[in-house]
Amino acid sequence: KRVVVLISGRGSNMRALVGAALDPAYPARIAGVISNRADAPGLAVAEDFGIPTQTISHKDFDDRASHDEAISAAIEEAGADFVCLAGYMRLLTAEFVNRWEGRLINIHPALLPSFKGVDTHARAIAAGVRVHGATVHFVTEDMDDGPIIAQGALSVELNETEATLAARVLKIEHHLYPLALRLLAEGKVGMRDGATFYNGMSA
Ligand code: GRF
Repeated sequence: KRVVVLISGRGSNMRALVGAALDPAYPARIAGVISNRADAPGLAVAEDFGIPTQTISHKDFDDRASHDEAISAAIEEAGADFVCLAGYMRLLTAEFVNRWEGRLINIHPALLPSFKGVDTHARAIAAGVRVHGATVHFVTEDMDDGPIIAQGALSVELNETEATLAARVLKIEHHLYPLALRLLAEGKVGMRDGATFYNGMSA
């Protein structure tokens, strides 16, 4: 299966997917990386692995619809079966999301449905939760809201800071995202009637 990864920044999750896909036994190949920012450090990371990259800047488009349309076209051009959002920091239009529904996944640094949006680690500490983690989910129209595919959790320590928590959750993310993409590419998970199914069975 062919996968396009959308990034806006560092690209460490993209790097984790690329690393997993280097294994010939992995069921997906990273066919391209698209950034909405020309200065995303992740672009150089992908290029080091010989992966085709493209910047499609939102600043070059009049509106969100035409920007998303250009991204969709580039994804199709790459012959992608699946699209992974990896630190892609733009909201996507309903048109884009519906076009790729069931084939479009995201990683979020919290145990959804808690802590949607940004600053998840600081908010988790402020809320005093004792368990925190990361979620891979199908993308639907509402942000950080689609059916969950996989989660990884850790215990929040008593002396935890935002930085320590972010680093520990990121490690989980780098294992979780390749695992979730593997399940999807193997057809072991999918989305049906707005929910995730596993091996053909509802959760
Ligand atoms: C990750 O924490 C991811 O969960 C969130 O944005 C961050 C991106 O980091 N969606 P990176 O660019 O993958 O290093």
